[in-house]
Amino acid sequence: MNRIRAVQRALASRPKPVYLEIGVSRGQAFQRISADVKLAVDPKFNLTARTRELADAGGRETHYFETTSDAFFEEQADFLVRHPIDVALIDGLHTYEQVVRDVEKTLRYLRDDGVIFLHDCNPPFELAGRRAESWEAHMESQKGKPLAIGIWNGDVWKAIVHLRSTRPDLVVGVFKCDQGLGFVRKGKPESTLPYTVQQVEALTYADLKADRKRLLNLKSPRYVGEFLKESAGSPRN
Ligand SMILES: C[S@@+](CC[C@H](N)C(=O)[O-])C[C@H]1O[C@@H](n2cnc3c(N)ncnc32)[C@H](O)[C@@H]1O
Repeated sequence: MNRIRAVQRALASRPKPVYLEIGVSRGQAFQRISADVKLAVDPKFNLTARTRELADAGGRETHYFETTSDAFFEEQADFLVRHPIDVALIDGLHTYEQVVRDVEKTLRYLRDDGVIFLHDCNPPFELAGRRAESWEAHMESQKGKPLAIGIWNGDVWKAIVHLRSTRPDLVVGVFKCDQGLGFVRKGKPESTLPYTVQQVEALTYADLKADRKRLLNLKSPRYVGEFLKESAGSPRN
């Protein structure tokens, strides 16, 4: 399982679904995903003509918003009210605060039975989980140092801990695949966390390493079927 398969499975049984992807880059995922309406948000798309052609072929309508996610939600509120979101993939700026904002804002326009996936929630080692303001800033900070591999997840994992601590109205966790695929849907969670926002901010990679399963509500990728079945049980708004 990976982010593309999870998104496709979540979209599969929905009539005329709307798909939102925040952070699209070269369109590795966006070109492979089929939905009635596809929304792409990135301040700097890196799409070839061929990728765009493939991406467009997978939808009745595709819309490209070359802007930050914050500006997108600010400027496209009316558009989003008219296009409630079935499935979203959040994979933009890899900082904790930005990911929390992206989730909270997506939730405003998410159908009651909609689902959100988040990439990069389970950094495999400290360097991958280091905080930076962009991929470029992360690489710059590693200049001259032997880099393990070109993986950067940032502190996205803290967004999972934050949501599990502050939103008892959401089911939140992480599938153990594809660098940690976060999942969010509306509903009563089976477990929550007790942290304040200040405590979440103060968590370190060592804390994550020591207590990954509990902090992230780590699930086997096989749980995806159950997760989607439960979201399908909620009424459509
Ligand atoms: C890891 S890539 C996305 C990969 C893509 N989702 C995929 O699966 O192939 C991250 C992208 O996020 C974009 N990004 C950075 N800051 C952003 C922001 N504030 N809002 C939306 N996207 C942002 C970057 O330009 C970059 O293209």
